[in-house]
Amino acid sequence: MRLFLDTADVEQYKNFLGLGVFHGVTTNPTTLQDAKEPCTVESLDHIHRLAKKYWKRPPHFNRHEEFMCQTWGGTEDELYKTGVALSKLDRSRMVVKVPATKKGISVARRLHQSDVRVCLTGCYSAKQALLAASLGVEYVAPYLGRMTDKGKDGLEECIKMQEIMESLECETRVLVASVRNPDDMVELARRGVNTFTFCPEVAEQLFSDPLTEDAAAEFEAAVKDTSERVAVTS
Ligand code: E4P
Repeated sequence: MRLFLDTADVEQYKNFLGLGVFHGVTTNPTTLQDAKEPCTVESLDHIHRLAKKYWKRPPHFNRHEEFMCQTWGGTEDELYKTGVALSKLDRSRMVVKVPATKKGISVARRLHQSDVRVCLTGCYSAKQALLAASLGVEYVAPYLGRMTDKGKDGLEECIKMQEIMESLECETRVLVASVRNPDDMVELARRGVNTFTFCPEVAEQLFSDPLTEDAAAEFEAAVKDTSERVAVTS
């Protein structure tokens, strides 16, 4: 299982990365904008350094934590150059996200050939898994919530992608993004999907269950009650 926190907000890194559950962080120009961070290589370097301060990795995770940044630029060459600059910040940890457009596919190929770790992102249909598998990139990211917004069966597209990767025995991981609730992750995990990125609001839902909170409070009350009775009789 690989869980990623989808935000560029450093306050949220403080909240969640120390819990030891997250394998990585994903960012994109929109999350940078939301966090009022400039979309520059320097800014991403700064944010990544801060994230590393708070990070506690899951015990079974034997590679470096991963930090995903999306490349930008008007031309193929600019997209490639930005991608290389982002990767150079930390070659083992940085995964460069490239939108799965025709231009992006070409950039992804060039980056992959330059030993840059690549995630093909912004995917809205299972057919894009074929492109990622053919390139041999590390991740392909379907946008579950946004597919649903567009009237598609997002869960079904994600499951198809996972089936393609498994039946072709591809190394490419399906990283389900744009997740709107933990129930969808549960449904997909039952079908073999093991990699998700989600925003702090969804993370909050994942970490809280009112019935569990009640049960924990009940146990604490029992501890207090027993200690008080022991104190009275001794
Ligand atoms: C991931 O990197 C995506 O950018 C993200 O999950 C998109 O999510 P949204 O649809 O909530 O913006």
